Amino acid sequence: PVLVVDFGAQYAQLIARRVREAKVYSEVVPSDMSAAHMLSREPAAIILSGGPASVYAQGAPQVDKAIFEAGVPVFGMCYGFQAMAKALGGTVEQTGLSEFGGTQLDRSGPSVLFGQTPQAQSVWMSHNDSVTVAPDGFTVTASSAGATVAAFEDTTRRLAGVQFHPEVGHTDFGQEILSHFLYDIAGLAPSWTADSIIDEQVAKIRQQVGDKKVLCALSGGVDSSVAAALVHKAVGDQLTCVFVDHGLLRAGEREQVEKDYASITGIDVRTVDASEQFLSALAGVTDPEQKRKIIGREFIRTFEKAARDLSAEKDIEFLVQGTLYPDVVESGGGTGTANIKSHHNVGGLPEDLKFDLVEPLRTLFKDEVRTIGLQLGLPESLVWRHPFPGPGLGIRIIGEVNRERLETLRAADAIARAELTAAGLERDVWQFPVVLLGDVRSVGVQGDGRTYGHPIVLRPVSSEDAMTADWSRLPYDLLSRISTRITNEVREVNRVTLDITSKPPGTIEWE
Ligand code: XMP
Repeated sequence: PVLVVDFGAQYAQLIARRVREAKVYSEVVPSDMSAAHMLSREPAAIILSGGPASVYAQGAPQVDKAIFEAGVPVFGMCYGFQAMAKALGGTVEQTGLSEFGGTQLDRSGPSVLFGQTPQAQSVWMSHNDSVTVAPDGFTVTASSAGATVAAFEDTTRRLAGVQFHPEVGHTDFGQEILSHFLYDIAGLAPSWTADSIIDEQVAKIRQQVGDKKVLCALSGGVDSSVAAALVHKAVGDQLTCVFVDHGLLRAGEREQVEKDYASITGIDVRTVDASEQFLSALAGVTDPEQKRKIIGREFIRTFEKAARDLSAEKDIEFLVQGTLYPDVVESGGGTGTANIKSHHNVGGLPEDLKFDLVEPLRTLFKDEVRTIGLQLGLPESLVWRHPFPGPGLGIRIIGEVNRERLETLRAADAIARAELTAAGLERDVWQFPVVLLGDVRSVGVQGDGRTYGHPIVLRPVSSEDAMTADWSRLPYDLLSRISTRITNEVREVNRVTLDITSKPPGTIEWE
């Protein structure tokens, strides 16, 4: 792999994604991993990420010279650039010339790293310290107002570095520059493709599972669907999926899983209809945390029973989990050393119900999951499905959840989603929660009569990862169509409002 050394900011994951976009496999490793450990992974190249420290600060993470001596291609970015310069005998100083944000970069002379990109280009900078003298053997290939040495390269030793952030979208030619490093300096080939990922995972799953039986909880979402499809490709009928219908799904969701998904993939899907059980457990409950707890508890109960019945019937030993790479990195397991955890108790399942985990998406980012989902033949509507919270519509009805309110919300939600899709804007928004204010009423007028109905809140948001979000600027005519249709077609609703709060301070969901 290409190892991306994480110097402690949010950049490392983004760099790893960009490397994979160039079709080269990459993994994030912590900066305290020893050089020997890194080299034992036989890295195709090493990328040193940006980070918040100053290379001269006490305890600032450093780069071990051993990685340069091993002949591995290295690319330093921002902090990684400075750490590299310092380790190789260059000079890094506090010049008093900081640069933050969009900055003009001026190239000088030929450069393999910059290739045919323009002489003057816009890059994203974020630094206080600067490299003032490049180490021996390096050619300085660019500068900016605040950094006399803004880029250098030594193509003989296959080393390069830049003061700016090539991984962010604000750097005009960032992806080209990264690709030049990977292909032209490190000499790597773009071979990490959907087919190669599928082949590799299928082989891994077969090796792990052998001829044993596997269980999977299908949510209807992208991750569990793609994970199941991969496992099915690997071991076919040894896989059985359980789909819990908790009665808090949106219009058409159960049908989509049962008909579209099962018929396309041929996977044995057992639906458990537990809506009565969930609704009676939720009766009279208005507190959001209480609702979540109840839904979580009932889900475990239902899944446990289904798992027990199936285990008895089929002697199941493995459970599929749709864990993604960002979760692995964030829980500190990104070093690639700890692979498959054995005998894990998943999501509160009882002690006597133990499964080994199959996690075929553990090394993948969301966009890769989507790509291989399409390659596996899953429909676009499924692969591009927006995230949907586990507690479902239960946390999109403010106040008590009951059948009538669920019907009202489902109808409004279906209209909003249909209009968004018809406008071709589905992929422009991250999520589009539609919320029913069940405990609020407002006065309206319809026909000649006064109405006293419930408001609906539209909450379209754009986001990269749901950690932060902004409200989507949907076109007024689309919002207007949604509003008109909802108030005309959904009897209980006489008012449609738009949530224009970013996250933070608002969360994406209302509860
Ligand atoms: P918030 O509302 O915290 O949501 O901004 C962030 C993302 O998480 C989803 N979400 C959940 N997903 N179980 C889930 O599986 C939950 O209890 C839950 N609560 C929120 C939300 O839809 C958004 O994508």
